[in-house]
Amino acid sequence: MTLKGKHIVLGITGSIAAYKAAYLLRAFIKKGAEVQVVITPAGKEFITPVTLSALSGKPVVSEFFTANDGTWHSHVDLGLWADAMVIAPATASSIGKMAHGIADNMLITTYLSSKAPVFIAPAMDLDMFAHPSTQHNLDLLRSYGNHIIEPTSGELASHLEGKGRMEEPDRIVAIIEDFFATQQSLSKKKVMITAGPTYEKLDPVRFIGNYSSGKMGFAIAEACAKAGAEVTLITGPVSLTTHHPGITRIDVESADEMYEAATASFTQSDAAIMCAAVADYKPATCSQQKMKRSGDDLTLQLVPNRDIAAALGKIKKKGQCLIGFALETNDEATNAQSKLEKKNLDFVVLNSLQNPGAGFRHDTNQVTIIERNGQSTDYPCKPKSEVADDIVALLAQYLNR
Ligand code: C5P
Repeated sequence: MTLKGKHIVLGITGSIAAYKAAYLLRAFIKKGAEVQVVITPAGKEFITPVTLSALSGKPVVSEFFTANDGTWHSHVDLGLWADAMVIAPATASSIGKMAHGIADNMLITTYLSSKAPVFIAPAMDLDMFAHPSTQHNLDLLRSYGNHIIEPTSGELASHLEGKGRMEEPDRIVAIIEDFFATQQSLSKKKVMITAGPTYEKLDPVRFIGNYSSGKMGFAIAEACAKAGAEVTLITGPVSLTTHHPGITRIDVESADEMYEAATASFTQSDAAIMCAAVADYKPATCSQQKMKRSGDDLTLQLVPNRDIAAALGKIKKKGQCLIGFALETNDEATNAQSKLEKKNLDFVVLNSLQNPGAGFRHDTNQVTIIERNGQSTDYPCKPKSEVADDIVALLAQYLNR
């Protein structure tokens, strides 16, 4: 892999791990990247700008103005020049400033002006890293779409043992390379995704629904957009938000509304990922008025909903890829295989409710992907965002065949 032609802003803050930034810079340059170092005033106490400018072949940027000639350094231009911004090492202080927009140095102003993906590699003592305020700030930065490169555990500069060591430079380079590789894997592709539950109305205040949170479908939408796809996300009622600008969201409530939106969008899509937990049945009638309580038993008549995935399977054209999910409690593989054939899917993502950490509302999932040719791959339990990356990697193989 290579980083040829990529513009990287390397942000260095005041941590002892700043000495590793020289190795990181060297590794980026060796991979063909152009690197502009932006260092905080405290960072300069740990590593000299002379070393960094010699390695990068560019003057290091640190102050808003060059002291002797008053030249203004534009953080906006730098932010727009960057294909990626990597802040390594990132101290608790800089993490806090980035999380809260405290733009009191060149690095934070560049970060706030940048449209490029941002990677943050924290480095600090174990207790500082574990402190709720640091963790809260990292969560905030994640929620803004930044990538946190987790520190590793081991001996720290304080001689204490614990989590807080900045990730090794080679590993950081590999993460950035992977990012650029996947960023292009779905470029120019249109992907439609269904997510969340459907609500089937009984009367103006009641519905039949299910426990789907939408987390898996939203994670897939983010992963597809990150891989360069134009995404249409058709979602039932959920309390989630999307982050990536490449996602167009269509909110629906019932299976019928989802059916209409999905069939309309599929004809212009290269792929559809059917992640929604669509209600199999809806009430035969929906009362205009709130149904009144009576002492008697109440029997609801339900009628089947249309199967959206199966309908798309029928109109699927050569070159289009259709992916389904199967949530099973028993005879998992057999049921998933039969779904694959009945709905004309290219592959099915099976999650079993028997696996702890899998299924509804969790932030993790454990899946097996079964392909049309019978090939079955088991994946370990991982965060839904990483499961989404696995699905996107396989989808990219199908679409780029
Ligand atoms: O048949 P079953 O509901 O288990 O199939 C699950 C798969 O089919 C999922 O991909 C789900 O999103 C999709 N599905 C659908 N429309 C339905 C029922 C299921 O798209 N009415």
